[in-house]
Amino acid sequence: MRTQIVAGNWKMNKTMSETEVLLSELSAKVPDTHAQVIVAPTFVNLVSAKNSLESSTIQVAAQNMHFADNGAFTGEISADMLLDIGLDTVILGHSERRSLFGEDDALLAKKMNTAIEKGMTAIFCFGEELDDRKSGNHFSVVENQLKEALFHLEEKAWSQIVLAYEPVWAIGTGETASPEQAQEMHAFIRKTIAEAYNDGIANNVSILYGGSVKPGNAADIFSKPDVDGGLIGGASLKADDFIAIIKAI
Ligand code: G3H
Repeated sequence: MRTQIVAGNWKMNKTMSETEVLLSELSAKVPDTHAQVIVAPTFVNLVSAKNSLESSTIQVAAQNMHFADNGAFTGEISADMLLDIGLDTVILGHSERRSLFGEDDALLAKKMNTAIEKGMTAIFCFGEELDDRKSGNHFSVVENQLKEALFHLEEKAWSQIVLAYEPVWAIGTGETASPEQAQEMHAFIRKTIAEAYNDGIANNVSILYGGSVKPGNAADIFSKPDVDGGLIGGASLKADDFIAIIKAI
């Protein structure tokens, strides 16, 4: 049985006081669930978020990190800094990091190496753009992203990897991949991993779907056999919506 996960990526939203309000609402309302619930506030609020969730089952993740241990990398955060504040989960390769901040799969391979070496769990995001889908190249784009960023890793690294398939055309657009499109791609991802590694690794890795997941569509998407949860953006910023999505898994 794979781990089911509902993760909220808060992106560059919420001040510290707003973070506190949302976390106290979430802590009060989070249902008993078999799923792991994760929130990823912005860097400056990670310590206070971690403290305020001390007695909660909700876990905290970072939205990004640098691959180097330390050094002259203005504005960046290292794995050791995250580990030092008690965080061992990081989102890597989000499409906004790729498109707005120039991260490519070669860089992400380095970040993955660091996350794995440091014993962290990496939520690795990837997915095709609209043009790729329209031209029918979405499977090869996704296969290439996996190959370039992940397939150099040793088999044992896969216990520290969560995948988040996020078609770029569905992120923040209100346009969601249909449950069938999500299932089709997730099954393809699993097949690709099985070919590169083996069935055991392919069947054990959790694959989340991300892109305009809302209370109204979450249950249908999560009902698909190869969808193990979601990486939620906009709808994770409102306690009631995020809770409704958690209840849908
Ligand atoms: O990380 C989350 C994804 O970018 C999805 O964002 O739910 O606002 O479309 P969204």
